[in-house]
Amino acid sequence: MKQSLIGQPAHRKEGRDKVTGQARYVDDLTFPDMLHGVTVRSPIARGQLRGVQFGEGIPWHEFTIVTAKDVPGANCVALILEDQPYLVSDTINHPEEPILLLAHADKYLLEEARRAITFEIEPLPAIFSIEDSLNRKELIWGEDNTFKSFLIEKGDVNAAWAHADFIVEGEYETGAQEQLYIEPNGMIAIANREEGVTVWGSMQCPYYVHKALIKLFDLPPKKIRVVQAVTGGGFGGKEEYPSMIAGHAALLAWKAGKPVKLIYDRAEDMAATTKRHPSKTRIRTAVGKDGKLLATEIDFTIDGGAYATLSSVVLSRGTIHAAGPYNWPAVRVRSRAVATNHPPHGAFRGFGAPQSIFAMERHLNKVAQTVGLSPEELRRRNFLQPGETTSTGQVINEKIDLSSLLDRALKLSDYQTKKTRFAEFNASSSTERKGIGFATFMHGAGFTGSGEVYLSSVVGVEATETGKVRVLTSNTEIGQGSFTIFSQIAADALGIDFSQIEIAQPDTANVPNSGPTVASRTTMIVGKLVESAALGLRQTLVAGGLLGERYSADEFAEACRQHIAQHGALKSFSKYEPPPGVHWDDEKYQGEAYGTYAWAVYVAEVTVDLTTYETRVDDFVALQEVGKVINPVLAAGQIEGGVAQAIGYALYENVVWREGRMVNNQMTNYIMPTSADVPPIRVYFEELPYAYGPSGAKGIGELPMDGPAPAILNAIEDAIGQPGIQTFLGQIPLMPETLMKAMTAGGGND
Ligand code: MOS
Repeated sequence: MKQSLIGQPAHRKEGRDKVTGQARYVDDLTFPDMLHGVTVRSPIARGQLRGVQFGEGIPWHEFTIVTAKDVPGANCVALILEDQPYLVSDTINHPEEPILLLAHADKYLLEEARRAITFEIEPLPAIFSIEDSLNRKELIWGEDNTFKSFLIEKGDVNAAWAHADFIVEGEYETGAQEQLYIEPNGMIAIANREEGVTVWGSMQCPYYVHKALIKLFDLPPKKIRVVQAVTGGGFGGKEEYPSMIAGHAALLAWKAGKPVKLIYDRAEDMAATTKRHPSKTRIRTAVGKDGKLLATEIDFTIDGGAYATLSSVVLSRGTIHAAGPYNWPAVRVRSRAVATNHPPHGAFRGFGAPQSIFAMERHLNKVAQTVGLSPEELRRRNFLQPGETTSTGQVINEKIDLSSLLDRALKLSDYQTKKTRFAEFNASSSTERKGIGFATFMHGAGFTGSGEVYLSSVVGVEATETGKVRVLTSNTEIGQGSFTIFSQIAADALGIDFSQIEIAQPDTANVPNSGPTVASRTTMIVGKLVESAALGLRQTLVAGGLLGERYSADEFAEACRQHIAQHGALKSFSKYEPPPGVHWDDEKYQGEAYGTYAWAVYVAEVTVDLTTYETRVDDFVALQEVGKVINPVLAAGQIEGGVAQAIGYALYENVVWREGRMVNNQMTNYIMPTSADVPPIRVYFEELPYAYGPSGAKGIGELPMDGPAPAILNAIEDAIGQPGIQTFLGQIPLMPETLMKAMTAGGGND
């Protein structure tokens, strides 16, 4: 038998195609007679659409023109609530909302035509802030501008205030963030009554697009086919939005009777598609003078934009993660996702957790300061221990020891020595301040609550006569390495070579629905199904007497050949079953919110320049417990990428809004960290195998997005050490001008 592939740095399955340019992204595909499509969008945030003017000098008769009236089925993007139209029919609810679609063979003429269209719109007042939405300055959605609200209650919060030695309050805010995948969104569609609808494109979730197109065209499921093309990054930004573009391309193709390609350029992608939800959090905490946390009340609100999209589930994850990895005797979390006239905010790596974790990890530093303990000592006295419960009452039954994890992270970062050295440096420097800070956090892997049960994912494996094995899943490779991980897991389970595994292209005509590629679920949940399907295939051969317990590659191939000769095909499927003891009460919001959590301590070291007020991250230690590392290179890559993205979230990436529209929608004025801004990111793993993950692995995709922002702001606080500045360090992105104002005003208004 072969040596195990688990824990080995297997090469990327699709790497050769990508580096040699053979990989075919959607814009590399063409079809005979293909047209190009564009979307014509609302210039304003809110209003009534009264008419469309087609300007002069354009041969309009050559164009395919699609409006809301051309929709064959239902004009709504099927997701959770069905409130978002594919095309505006009367009311416009956000800037850049799609109103009309055009297709033509000449993409330059198409661009001229787009500019020649003007809309007659009767403007309506719009709202752009969480406050205006909560106060119902205008009623723009439902009865109260609220997409969803949650309440988590554990213990008696009301009783705690009277016994508290200190009550600490704080307010925290996080901004929008653009996913900035390298490849912008795009789709190609062929659609007609005889053949139905087929789309190829850049996406994370083929079956989400499938579901949306069924509703849009009112066609039976088998008349809709969705194929993922090679995809250049997603980060959540290609979770729900591709259903919109796929629908638009398909509507144009349906009317034109020709294939239509619809590709966004960067500016359109940034202005029109989803971003991370901005948030506001208020926290009030009761604490004893011994540093024991007694109770906390958290009020968490996210800006969902104009339509419901995924805001309810983003809110859910943010709400459940809000209390952090601490043992609170009493917790109350109230949360809501509200409507504004921004383009809908959506899925982005972390999915609500980076927002609420930022608030809690900043808040606990304030609590520590109030009590007179170091940030590390306060946390040490309150970490969740095995046997204790989270805010939803989930008993921690893994042997996680957060105090040791913290100790190790502080040691790896040389925390205590640096603290002393930086204090000396700061006393002697008039131009710079240095500081070090950390955050402790956890991230639940897989869909929240009963989500995985509801998805009921199915994975297949199929052998050929030559002993190759194909893995059939709808999960997508979006740069994170899922095809490599699946290949390692399947090869290991079958005892065959990595090169003998193939991963089927995600195509709803050929693969079962193994759920979306989101929620840190691909390795842990889908990987486990790949493992069990592969073990099932092997068992079929063993039980049939074709294979012994130990075998060579040739013997395996021969066994496959014989089985196929006798039975026609050799396939094995595996369907998700929840681990025992996982129960979730959707009404009370109580129970096992996730099958398991990954746990982490991240430490950031910063320098603040006192002339420009810029902050540089000089060093970063990311230590996490992840069950089992399947591929050390890919796992470290996930963590490094997430940390870099979160450095942007904390310090650079500032979406500038004007009347609800992103005005800095270019990579020249929306500033993300480059390699020059990213410090050495030192990644360390601990492994406590999770019984229901493949070889013990947990999900890690989103985890690294959660911790860096609070760790960096905690480090800035350590660097500038100025009392009264807390309020300004409760906001990200932390722009140099904000820091300058705070520091030169001699303290904030805290
Ligand atoms: Mo994700 S943010 O769960 O695509």
